[in-house]
Amino acid sequence: MKSTPILALASTKGGVGKTTLTFCLAIEMARRLSGNQDNRDSGNPDEWVVECIDADPNRTLYEAVRKGRPKGVHAEIATAETLLPAVAAATARAKVVLIDLEGTANQAMLYACGKASLVIIPAQPSLFDVVEAMKTSAVVAQAADLTGRDIEAKVILTRTPVLRQRVAEHSRRQFEAKGLPLMRCELVERAAFKMMTYTGQSPSEDDPEGGAASNVAALTDEVMGLLGMPI
Ligand SMILES: Nc1ncnc2c1ncn2[C@@H]1O[C@H](COP(=O)(O)OP(=O)(O)OP(=O)(O)O)[C@@H](O)[C@H]1O
Ligand SMILES: [Mg+2]
Repeated sequence: MKSTPILALASTKGGVGKTTLTFCLAIEMARRLSGNQDNRDSGNPDEWVVECIDADPNRTLYEAVRKGRPKGVHAEIATAETLLPAVAAATARAKVVLIDLEGTANQAMLYACGKASLVIIPAQPSLFDVVEAMKTSAVVAQAADLTGRDIEAKVILTRTPVLRQRVAEHSRRQFEAKGLPLMRCELVERAAFKMMTYTGQSPSEDDPEGGAASNVAALTDEVMGLLGMPI
């Protein structure tokens, strides 16, 4: 049997878009995996195709899922102590597991990376973020060393301007120069991504024809491809 893919979103820096990405990806993946349209969660565990583990003590992701009750998505809270059993239980239930972490290098990050099929490191286009992405990448390398396996990690540029600007291209080259592989897609700066926290709805539910929704669709294609999941 094919094992359940596990995606970890990690950054040693806070506020780079981990939770925003996890929330959007979870909802769009659930929609695709269960073929459901804009329904709410019925609370039936049999329908949970996407499990989100919120390992950030601020519980932003957990609260957003609780508010929006997206169909097919289940969220739970974990600490460094409970993360490994939570991941084991989640992988047994769901078709994909997403782990959202606190914006700091900690034990939970090491555990999550150690279990991950893929680690996504969100970073904004700035030199400061290149340095932070390298720190995060070093944690992934430690987890790979501990577990004795290769762990794929990719940086995603976040909050990039809608109109491609020189800074994004320049920033891409800086990440590449440091040997940090980049995702093709970026998470574009859009008001719809900020709105989400208030509505509890992802742009793919809130405004399916909008620019933010198409950004999420392209991102989901790329992430599911990297996880070896049929798109
Ligand atoms: N693409 C975007 N467009 C507009 N606003 C965004 C975007 N991505 C994130 N934000 C906003 O930036 C803030 C930080 O985003 P988010 O909470 O996703 O980051 P985080 O990495 O999870 O932070 P933390 O490390 O504190 O958990 C939030 O207010 C969010 O609404
Ligand atoms: Mg967060």
